[in-house]
Amino acid sequence: MNTNSDVKIYEYDAVIVGAGLAGLAAAKELTAAGKKTAVITKLHPLRSHSGAAQGGINAALGKDDSTELHEFDTVKGSDYLADQDAVELMCTKAPETIRWAERMGTVFSRDEEGDIAIRPFGGQSKPRACYAKDRTGLALLQAIYEQAFREGIEVFDEWYAGDMIYKDGKVSGVVAYDIRNSKVAVFNAKVTMFATGGNGRLYRFNSNAHANTGDSLSIVARHGLPLEDMEFVQFHPSGLGGSGILISEAARGEGGRLYNSLGERFMEKYAPNAMELASRDVVSRAIMEEVRQGRGVGKDGQSVNIDLTHLDPQIILTRLPELRELAIAFQGQDMLKEPIHISATAHYSMGGIPTNINCQVRKSPTELVEGFYAAGECACVSVHGANRLGANSVLEALLFGRHAGENMIKALDEGASLRKATAADADTFVEELTRIKTSNGTERVPELRTELQNGMTADAGVFRTKESLDRQLKLINSLLKRFKNIRIDDKSKTFNTDLQEAIELGHMLESAKFVVEGALVREESRGGHYREDFPTRDDKKFLKHTYAYMDKDYNVSIEWGDVVLGKFEPKERTY
Ligand code: FUM
Repeated sequence: MNTNSDVKIYEYDAVIVGAGLAGLAAAKELTAAGKKTAVITKLHPLRSHSGAAQGGINAALGKDDSTELHEFDTVKGSDYLADQDAVELMCTKAPETIRWAERMGTVFSRDEEGDIAIRPFGGQSKPRACYAKDRTGLALLQAIYEQAFREGIEVFDEWYAGDMIYKDGKVSGVVAYDIRNSKVAVFNAKVTMFATGGNGRLYRFNSNAHANTGDSLSIVARHGLPLEDMEFVQFHPSGLGGSGILISEAARGEGGRLYNSLGERFMEKYAPNAMELASRDVVSRAIMEEVRQGRGVGKDGQSVNIDLTHLDPQIILTRLPELRELAIAFQGQDMLKEPIHISATAHYSMGGIPTNINCQVRKSPTELVEGFYAAGECACVSVHGANRLGANSVLEALLFGRHAGENMIKALDEGASLRKATAADADTFVEELTRIKTSNGTERVPELRTELQNGMTADAGVFRTKESLDRQLKLINSLLKRFKNIRIDDKSKTFNTDLQEAIELGHMLESAKFVVEGALVREESRGGHYREDFPTRDDKKFLKHTYAYMDKDYNVSIEWGDVVLGKFEPKERTY
């Protein structure tokens, strides 16, 4: 497809891959500080998955709330696996982050006194999710994009970053191709940041955008660097039945109630105090248990009902208008008039590229990679531990995105240098593109992807056992072999989506392997990771992070890293 002479070489102070809230916030800071910054993104920034965040962004703004209470809820929600130094940073800077976002032009919903409105979310002692109706992520993304654009960020949109340049312990840029014409380029950078979002598409039912294929996770892993806590996948309790499209937790925050087919408000059994507002892992398991016991609703009995008909219709019309539209459009159910069918849907990866509190990527639990940063869902600064609280992810993306930007500025001011890569640094990625385009095998990408997604949902989902995980590992290993024998029909250079989907499938297979291998070694249940054969939390053995490394033959080995503990001692969680 390319010869080396076709490879264009760019030079920047900073290169950021991903243009959601984390990437744009970092890019805005860097550009405002006069640093030459490129943002590479496979989508237009305004199509980033951050824009799909519905319900809110947490900050302790309420009169009887405190940042310490926010910290406590976050650590408790994480089943004590979160690093408490990072949690403290996030929660104490949250109010300032909201004010910053407001100054950037985000139009938040208001309460009757004119203050930023806050709503209750699961697992939190106080209402603290600031929101813009049920389109909070979109409101934030539009504002931050506009401001970053005003600063003059350079965006390479519809460019696909397929490799990073990593030598002698330093990352010095990425290799990417222009989706419009398949031309490959090397982006040299003094500092590089990944902010590519999550990998929710690993699962058949998920709330994620098609783009969420976890690309940067396996790019990092292919260079022998670790991924942290990948076994912790969050299932959101309310995806539309049958599709998994998100029905925000705001629906329960505003008073929605869950019922099974017998009309029982079943959360009474599972979380008698918090009820529908227990943390997501608890509510998702409760829903799936009701379905498993044959008390599901819908044609296939795989959903439960969420009922909002007892609410003042004005609440739905003014605070949840998008949710109502989604349920009408995809299910023909109007929440003003009847309960709607929902079920647990794969939503968020708590694990990812390990970073320290300054967003610098780790080479091992104790060493850092030079010049390399990550933030947002693809990263694991470990503020979520084993289970994330709703409305903490938008906060994390925005806050740690900015924080990464500030730390990159500092590194640049302290003299971070350019290690100039050449066209030869693009060889590995060019070979991968060529192999996929010329491979004349018999396997088809959509079929392999469907097998992966069905297997993940059935065997590495809300409930797991050694038997189910072994089965899924065997499937992934066979899919990795079959992936070598694919064939794509589109051989063209222009907007070749067959090619892109094949590359993405390679990434998905690898990150699925990390999820399953981590879930196998973690013989306990904690947060979003529930092993039916080890149903209790085991702090003695497993109050640890997993760091997983992959070799060239896709063998994964696991090392354990310490959790940063602090003022909140691990306790049994009750809701
Ligand atoms: O339910 C929601 O609105 C999702 C929010 C989140 O995942 O933080």
